[in-house]
Amino acid sequence: MKRKILVTGGTGYIGSHTSVELINEGFEVVIIDNLYNSEAEVTDRIQQITGTKPSLEIIDICDKAKLEKFFEKNGDISAIIHFAAYKAVSESVSKPLDYYNNNLVSLINLLDLMKRFNVPDIVFSSSCTVYGQPEKLPVTEDAPLQPATSPYGNTKQVGEEIIRDATFAHKSIKAIALRYFNPIGAHPSGLIGELPRGVPENLVPFITQTAYGLRDELKVFGNDYDTPDGSCIRDYLHVVDLAKAHVVAVKRLLEGKSKKDFEVFNLGTGNGVTVLEAISSFERVSGIKLKFRITDRRPGDIEKIWADPSFANKELGWKTKSTLDEAMKTAWEWEKSIRTKKV
Ligand code: NAD
Ligand code: WQD
Repeated sequence: MKRKILVTGGTGYIGSHTSVELINEGFEVVIIDNLYNSEAEVTDRIQQITGTKPSLEIIDICDKAKLEKFFEKNGDISAIIHFAAYKAVSESVSKPLDYYNNNLVSLINLLDLMKRFNVPDIVFSSSCTVYGQPEKLPVTEDAPLQPATSPYGNTKQVGEEIIRDATFAHKSIKAIALRYFNPIGAHPSGLIGELPRGVPENLVPFITQTAYGLRDELKVFGNDYDTPDGSCIRDYLHVVDLAKAHVVAVKRLLEGKSKKDFEVFNLGTGNGVTVLEAISSFERVSGIKLKFRITDRRPGDIEKIWADPSFANKELGWKTKSTLDEAMKTAWEWEKSIRTKKV
């Protein structure tokens, strides 16, 4: 019988790609999403890619009564991958209570119901934001965490702490937190990808929207950092590689291979890329000369960060496969397909 995985936030950007990989690996996928930042049609597109439509329950995970009813009806869930959260850093500064409520109450509700309904395993979406500006690069999982620079970032730090305490106290629960670096790109089918609301905060959607003519120009936030070309450095990984890591993590939990009740892994390529190098990659794969201008630094930006992914490489047997150019090309194909309403 197929193992059933609950994917919260499964119609969102990373959740939809992960649902595809789970289905491809023979899992049954049940999605819970309140469609705050995604569309129900994503399940049709997952079906177009995989041949199987995941079921979708439109539930706000903060609504505990509804979530409880879901667990009552679905007694055969083997594990949870918990993506559902708000993720806009600047919005979190102006709406901190919304962010703490949505990102933490949802997690607490899930952990409590896991305990009551005997669901043993959870994979949690964490972020490299927990490291702030690390002293040593590339950054390893044991690097000290820095005070969060936004309420959003704090929800990831506190979220990890809540999970650590829950796994310590409730031995039936095992967890893995995956600290993503910068996910970019889209599925090569062009059927699923990121759907940013309003003006994108993240670099790659801003690049592709500018190239498509939706934005006048890209502002490069600073060229006076201590980096080879003066622009900030990040570790951009293809969302499909990231999605595959979730399948490996969930299998590790299901097969009882975890070495601790709560494990944490960095998910990145291990390569640092400057903003200007990311622009060059986009220009190379699209053949478009991007309009951009160097402006002031963005307040709160980290100067440089990239992952040491060797723990995930060794323990999970997972490694990124796509190059920056390949990921950028899929981001561009996706931008064009949304604008021409092919999806
Ligand atoms: P996304 O917004 O595309 O997907 C999140 C999904 O969760 C959306 O479909 C949204 O409708 C849903 N959701 C939000 N709150 C909900 C609630 N209370 N109940 C039910 N559904 C709810 O975001 P994403 O980029 O796919 O991110 C997934 C996870 O990964 C998030 O936890 C995010 O913080 C984390 N993360 C993302 C990035 C990134 O750059 N995209 C980097 C690091 C970590
Ligand atoms: C990347 C680089 C910008 C936009 C955010 C969140 C973090 C994590 C990942 C979830 C930076 C530069 C960007 C633009 C630019 N998400 N840039 N012009 O800064 O790594 O972090 O996403 O957990 O929490 O804060 O990603 O895509 O915003 O920026 O020059 O219009 O691109 O300065 O150097 P970042 P990003």
